Amino acid sequence: MKILIVGGNGTIGKTVSKYFSKKHEVIIGGRNTGDVTVDIADSESIKSMFETIGKVDAVVCAAGEAKWAEFDSMTEEDFYIGLKSKLMGQVNLVRIGKDYMNPGGSFTLSTGILADHPVRLTTSAAMVNGGIHSFVKAVSLELENKIRINVVSSGLVVDAVDVYEDYFPGHNPIPMKKVVNGFVKSVLGSGNGEIIRMYDNC
Ligand SMILES: NC(=O)c1ccc[n+]([C@@H]2O[C@H](COP(=O)([O-])OP(=O)(O)OC[C@H]3O[C@@H](n4cnc5c(N)ncnc54)[C@H](OP(=O)(O)O)[C@@H]3O)[C@@H](O)[C@H]2O)c1
Repeated sequence: MKILIVGGNGTIGKTVSKYFSKKHEVIIGGRNTGDVTVDIADSESIKSMFETIGKVDAVVCAAGEAKWAEFDSMTEEDFYIGLKSKLMGQVNLVRIGKDYMNPGGSFTLSTGILADHPVRLTTSAAMVNGGIHSFVKAVSLELENKIRINVVSSGLVVDAVDVYEDYFPGHNPIPMKKVVNGFVKSVLGSGNGEIIRMYDNC
């Protein structure tokens, strides 16, 4: 399979890329690093990336940002960061990418535990995660040519504990193998419209 992994050099993405590279052709997309340059917050950039790489069998997104801050301090513009990057960035990957997807291919998006179990400072991040979950369920009803779509929602991953541990008191870090398996289930399995939750019900 020819698999595009946007954010494939990030904390989660690099482990996912390593796994799929064993048996598949992996193309990594990122703003600053990778085989192809893309900013998912910019539709023209997404279109240009697909024109460069051509048709694919799977698109995985392990990228997308949102501002973390006290709700009291969040401006309207602060919310647009998450809406443009993590939410519409992933929606546009699907909206534009479906025309470059081979029949029977799949999209796998990324969200996180915040959609179900938010912590402080995450009004934006939690909100966009929830929006993506609803988007995936709805668009899975309409994608043609047997194209599937799922989203992997992980808890705080082991490799990011050093940075984010203090924001997630009492959370059990998710082993990287478990997170990777969420992506494997989506890409190599046959599920469609699934929210693949990779965390304990905390
Ligand atoms: N880390 C966790 O514990 C965790 C848990 C659950 C969910 N998540 C979510 O999973 C996703 C990946 O997390 P991560 O921890 O692996 O993040 P990360 O280490 O910051 O890596 C993100 C990768 O995405 C790329 N990227 C960022 N913004 C982009 C954009 N606008 N267009 C294209 N590429 C972009 C970055 O590459 P460049 O620097 O080259 O742009 C980077 O390689 C995020 O959406 C995050 O919220 C993370």
